[in-house]
Amino acid sequence: MSLEAGKKQAAKAAMEFVEAGEIIGVGTGSTVNYFIDFLAGVKGKIDGAVSSSVVSTERMQAHGIKVYDLNDVNGMSIYVDGADESTRNLHLIKGGGGALTREKIVAAASEKFVCIADDSKLVNRLGKFPLPVEVIPMARSMVARKLMKYGGQPVLREGFITDNGCEILDIQGLDILDPLTMEQEINQIPGVVTVGLFAERGADVLLLGGENGVERIDP
Ligand code: 5RP
Repeated sequence: MSLEAGKKQAAKAAMEFVEAGEIIGVGTGSTVNYFIDFLAGVKGKIDGAVSSSVVSTERMQAHGIKVYDLNDVNGMSIYVDGADESTRNLHLIKGGGGALTREKIVAAASEKFVCIADDSKLVNRLGKFPLPVEVIPMARSMVARKLMKYGGQPVLREGFITDNGCEILDIQGLDILDPLTMEQEINQIPGVVTVGLFAERGADVLLLGGENGVERIDP
């Protein structure tokens, strides 16, 4: 089975979590794009969505799904988003698409984070996928020097500016033993907007699409 087929299966399985009349938190990425397309099929059933990126907003609006500003809603019942890596206890690396800050905000505003991915994203330890860190541009070099203590190599994502007007350092070559502590420490560095570790608030359920259908993992 192709990775795309796995993503699509996972996205379809997430539709079971969508309840009538709700406002849904929606993430960013190729897996979420499948979810948005499924959501379009039931757009009369939901009230609308809160989006984690300009690109997801545009895709939903093209489908006629109403997109709310987060400031205009009281919170969401579910947030559906992909991941670059996940462990079995649902700690994640996210931000491959550069939307990590808004993703973390929308996840925090939602009761349940439903993570959808193809089964190649499941890992024993996080870190093989370069860890994204969104930074205020003037602090980029200083933050990069401080990140060296984790043993990896921070690399500027060339030619990429986030929806928040910031830059991204991707830390290559990490082996993350304690994601929770690392998330807390990196978030404390002045100039860091967000680190793409989702451990403090990981996923609540992981739906992994693969050869044998969709595996559901709860922490
Ligand atoms: C975007 C993300 C995505 O969820 C992550 O990169 C996975 O993307 P894809 O579904 O395309 O594999 O964090 O910032």
